[in-house]
Amino acid sequence: MTDFAAIKSEFPILNQSIHGHPLVYLDSGATAQKPQAVIDAESHFYETINAGVHRGAHELAARSTVAFEEARAKVARLVNANADEGQEEIVVTAGATAGLNLLATAFGNASQGRGGDAAKRFSIKPGDEIVVSKAEHHSVLLSFQELAARTGATLKWFDLDEYGSILSDTADTVITPRTKVVAITEISNVTGHITDVAPIVARAHEVGAIVVLDVCQSVPHIPVDVKALDVDFACWSGHKMYGPTGVGFMYGRRELLDALPPASFGGSMVELAWMDKPAQYMEPPARFEAGTQPVAQVVAAGVAAEWMMNIGMETIAEHEKTITRELLKLGDVPGVKILGRPDMEDRIGTVAFEVEGVHPHDVGQFIDSMGIAIRMGHHCAQPIHRHFGYYASNRASSGVYNTPEDAKALVDAVSQVRGYFLGK
Ligand SMILES: Cc1ncc(COP(=O)(O)O)c(C=O)c1O
Repeated sequence: MTDFAAIKSEFPILNQSIHGHPLVYLDSGATAQKPQAVIDAESHFYETINAGVHRGAHELAARSTVAFEEARAKVARLVNANADEGQEEIVVTAGATAGLNLLATAFGNASQGRGGDAAKRFSIKPGDEIVVSKAEHHSVLLSFQELAARTGATLKWFDLDEYGSILSDTADTVITPRTKVVAITEISNVTGHITDVAPIVARAHEVGAIVVLDVCQSVPHIPVDVKALDVDFACWSGHKMYGPTGVGFMYGRRELLDALPPASFGGSMVELAWMDKPAQYMEPPARFEAGTQPVAQVVAAGVAAEWMMNIGMETIAEHEKTITRELLKLGDVPGVKILGRPDMEDRIGTVAFEVEGVHPHDVGQFIDSMGIAIRMGHHCAQPIHRHFGYYASNRASSGVYNTPEDAKALVDAVSQVRGYFLGK
C-alpha cells in the first residue's frame, strides 16, 4: 500500500496556512508543487558539480555532463523513449511551449528547403493541410497556426462533442491525403478528457502525416508510452511533473530527429562553423539544444521523473481517481455546471466549472479566501471555452499530494458561492 500521507509530507510548500486555513492546492494543471528530493537535487547540483555541459575539459564539467545525460535517460524511461547513446530520443527544451515552437519552426525551416533531402518529409507547401483541434492549449494552436501562415498551408481542426472531447472518430474525414502535420493534445487542460488518439494516429500515418502530441497534462498523471502511442513527436513541461520551471522535454522518433533541421542556432549544436559556407550541425539531441542548457533544472527534472516512477504511474493515476470522484461532486452543487464529462470516463482530475451568475474571478477569490488554490480564466484555451459558450471558467486540478478531503473542501466552498454573492 502506498502511503500517500507520507508522500504529501514530502512537499514542504503544502505545510502552511493561507488566509488562516491549511493550504489546499488544487492547481497542479497550472504547475505542480515540488517534493523535497527535487528541491534538494537542484541545490545539490549548484553546491557540488555546477558547470556547463559538453564543453569543459575539467572534472566538474565532466560530472555535470554525466548528471545531465543521466537525467535525460530517466526522463526517457518515464515515457519509454530510447536513451541509448547515439540513439537518444529526448530533447531538452525550455518547456512544452518551447518544444512545440521548436517543431513548428523546424518544419517551417524544412519547408524553406533547409535540412536537405532528408528534411523534405517535413516540408509543407500551399494547399497542404495542418490539423489541430478546438481543444488545444494556445501553445499548440498558435504554433501550428503560425506554421500554416508561414507555409501557405490550410489550418483544419477536429471539432468537439458536447463534453468538449475531441471527435477522434472523425479522423478519416478531417485528415486527408493533403494533411502533413497533425498536432493535438492527448489530455485537455480544461476538461481533463483523455482522447483516444489511436484512430487519429492511424489515419495520420495512413496519409503520411507527422503526429505531434501534447502530453503536458498526461505525463504527470497517467502512464505515457510514446512507442505504444506510436506518435512521431511529443512535448511536455518539467514543472507540471513535479520538476523545476524553465525546462521541458520533446520526444522525437529517432529517425525523424535525425532528419529534422534545427530551429535555433548558437553554441553547442554545431560541429563546424565557417564564414563562407553553411555550418555542419551536430547529431540529435545536441542539434536542438543550442546555447547553455538549464542543467540544474534538467538534473532535478530527472529526479522528478525517477520519483514518479518509484511511486508508479499506475499508482498515481489510481490515487488521483479518488480525488477526481470527489471533485465531480461539484456537478451536484445547484447552479454549478462542469465543462466536460461529468463522470469518471477517460479523464484525469482536472475539472473546469461555471457557477451560474458569478464571475469566475469572484469565484476564485472567494475560494482563495478559504485557503484553496484553483485556477480562473480561460486556461490558455479560448476556443474550447467558446465551444462551451463561455469566456472563462474555474478549474480545479489534482496532483499526487491531494486527498479526497481536499476535493471535499473545494465542493463545500463552491456550494457557498451563490449564497455569498447572490443570496441563493
Ligand atoms: C495541455 C497543455 N499544453 C501546453 C501547455 C504549455 O505548457 P508550458 O506553459 O509549461 O510551456 C500547457 C500548460 O498549461 C498545457 O496544459
